[in-house]
Amino acid sequence: MATTIAPHGGVLINKVVIGEIREQLLLQASSLRSIPINTWALSDLDLIGVGAFSPLEGFMEKDDYQSVVENMRLATGDVWSIPITLGVKEELARTITVGEKLALIGDQDGLIYGVIEVRSVYQADQEYEAVKVFKTADPEHPGVAKLYSKPAYYVGGPIQVLNRPRPDQFNDFYYDPSETRRIFSEKGWRTVVGFQTRNPVHRAHEYIQKSAMEIVDALFLNPLVGETKSDDISADVRMRSYLVLLENYYPKDRTFLGVFPAAMRYAGPREAIFHAIVRKNYGCTHFIVGRDHAGVGDYYGTYEAQEIFSQFTKEDLGITPLFFEHSFFCTKCGNMASSKTCPHDTKDHLHLSGTKVRALLRAGERPPEQFTRPEVAQILIDGIKAIAVSQVD
Ligand code: ADX
Repeated sequence: MATTIAPHGGVLINKVVIGEIREQLLLQASSLRSIPINTWALSDLDLIGVGAFSPLEGFMEKDDYQSVVENMRLATGDVWSIPITLGVKEELARTITVGEKLALIGDQDGLIYGVIEVRSVYQADQEYEAVKVFKTADPEHPGVAKLYSKPAYYVGGPIQVLNRPRPDQFNDFYYDPSETRRIFSEKGWRTVVGFQTRNPVHRAHEYIQKSAMEIVDALFLNPLVGETKSDDISADVRMRSYLVLLENYYPKDRTFLGVFPAAMRYAGPREAIFHAIVRKNYGCTHFIVGRDHAGVGDYYGTYEAQEIFSQFTKEDLGITPLFFEHSFFCTKCGNMASSKTCPHDTKDHLHLSGTKVRALLRAGERPPEQFTRPEVAQILIDGIKAIAVSQVD
């Protein structure tokens, strides 16, 4: 068995309560006042509970929040780049007292998912938070829009998870960090590279993954399947596309597919740091950061999400980022390449924008093989058709 990398902060947090204690806590929680939580907060709650967000033990208290917003560090000094906060409506926030325990109840199903022990209640300046975290206060930015839609009063404190959200499908691909760590270790993998994606895996993604696989033991393909913006391809279609790709083009004994059930923030550079730290908690030793990682529109420079890593030491992060240049298919080279490996003119490079690819797929046309594997393209076309039909029904 190989030893796995230490989690961020040194200890893998586990706040999922089971057995009799859970029964007792559920009973107690049913007589507590409650905070309604939406899908986003529920995914944060669960990810804190299973230790994916180690060393966080709950939603951020004011000192951690301020320190993260200002300096990308928790009050302890541990690196953390994205605020993980629980917003509550002002009327409710004003009645919550420090020391109080509240039940966290799903706003869709009324189920008690957990409890929070309140350590701080504070008002956030969301415009300031947006500028610091997203580098823009523009409400058109999908992450900023999401932030503004959340109440500006935050409740912080340690949580306990009493119920877990149940995935609608692809159950088999949900692994908690303790499980991926065990699996990587059992497989004898000493080095594992994590790959974040919210897209189908096109040839450029495949190229950078496989380039990384040349220097590590295995690839952890870890697509984000939490909330994304409405024009991103849905998680279930993507999952089918990953399966067909792995089946046909990847070595089974060196790849592992598991989902990352977090919401997408579109925070570019800061989200790249967050993505890397979380993948360390899942047991990855390396993490791929390509062009415009977690970016959206023109808000971030092509390599800003790589440059931000220079603000931290190796010890600060623990996980090793692997940076990749913008990759493409070069018709003269006859293979995938980047400006680091290809001497030819850009006119020889195959470039397709996301918008163009989506238009092709919607029209039932496969993008060129040099851009997307045909099996993957077919799954995407079928998936898009099925969605269109269900919308007409
Ligand atoms: S992300 O929002 O999840 O980062 P996406 O799924 O497109 O978006 O990208 C997944 C990873 O692949 C990111 O690290 C991104 O930087 C990288 N990437 C995407 N396309 C390319 C490309 N053509 N060349 C190099 N890296 C890329």
